[in-house]
Amino acid sequence: MDAHETPMTVTRFTAMKSAGQKITMLTAYDYTMARLLDEAGVDGLLVGDSLAMVVQGHPSTLPATMEQMLYHAEMVGRAVRRALVVVDMPFMSYQLGVRDALANAGRILKQTRCQAVKLEGGADQAEIVAALVRAGIPVMAHLGLRPQSVHQSGGYTVQRNRQQLLQDSQAVQQAGAFSILLECIPADLAAEITASVQVPTIGIGAGSGCDGQIQVIHDVVGLTLGRLPRHAKTYADLKTAIQQAVAQYCQEVRQGLFPSAEHSFR
Ligand code: KIV
Repeated sequence: MDAHETPMTVTRFTAMKSAGQKITMLTAYDYTMARLLDEAGVDGLLVGDSLAMVVQGHPSTLPATMEQMLYHAEMVGRAVRRALVVVDMPFMSYQLGVRDALANAGRILKQTRCQAVKLEGGADQAEIVAALVRAGIPVMAHLGLRPQSVHQSGGYTVQRNRQQLLQDSQAVQQAGAFSILLECIPADLAAEITASVQVPTIGIGAGSGCDGQIQVIHDVVGLTLGRLPRHAKTYADLKTAIQQAVAQYCQEVRQGLFPSAEHSFR
């Protein structure tokens, strides 16, 4: 195994920050995609509760359940050889208190091969983060735009409360989080937070000053069905490729061209 194949760990994430190496992350929700992304060399995968939106077609992440997260995380965990796999704790799987959070995060590590969990919160969730870390469960804290609080915050908007974000970053670092995800924060503020903590920051809509970047895989490969978020960049047009392939398949079947002798048995 060379360095590229050596499995990623939370301590390697920290070492990458110290070495000034950018960390790459993407979301993944199933075996095939996880294998492709892992083999392409991404450092970390997130089984995001965004699956409620991009896989299930809901308007928010709130409907994702523990059972669904376990189902998808198990598929992703089984596919991956190198990347660090982080699993989102869905809405109401940790907000009820330490006991529930421990039980649910424990299920994620016991029943999937994934190595860490992510939860949304700063100082308000520091007690939960600390309890999980004490139990040996690595935690990524999610600050800035918190999709699970969309009804309270009033929408998916850029978060600019500098004092609060700096305090929250310190609080989750102090509680033992191995990494901090920063979503939709002005680039200069995200860079300031990144410089103020020892743990790596992973940005989405938070500029290039973060220690790493994460994107939703559907946005990166052109499978977004609605509006593409401003922070996303599309590197391939799989939507068109899939629709063209399917249109050609339908045409060949209708014309009797498929299956040909080559695809038939004697
Ligand atoms: O659920 C998710 O996909 C996320 C994004 C911020 C990457 O948390």
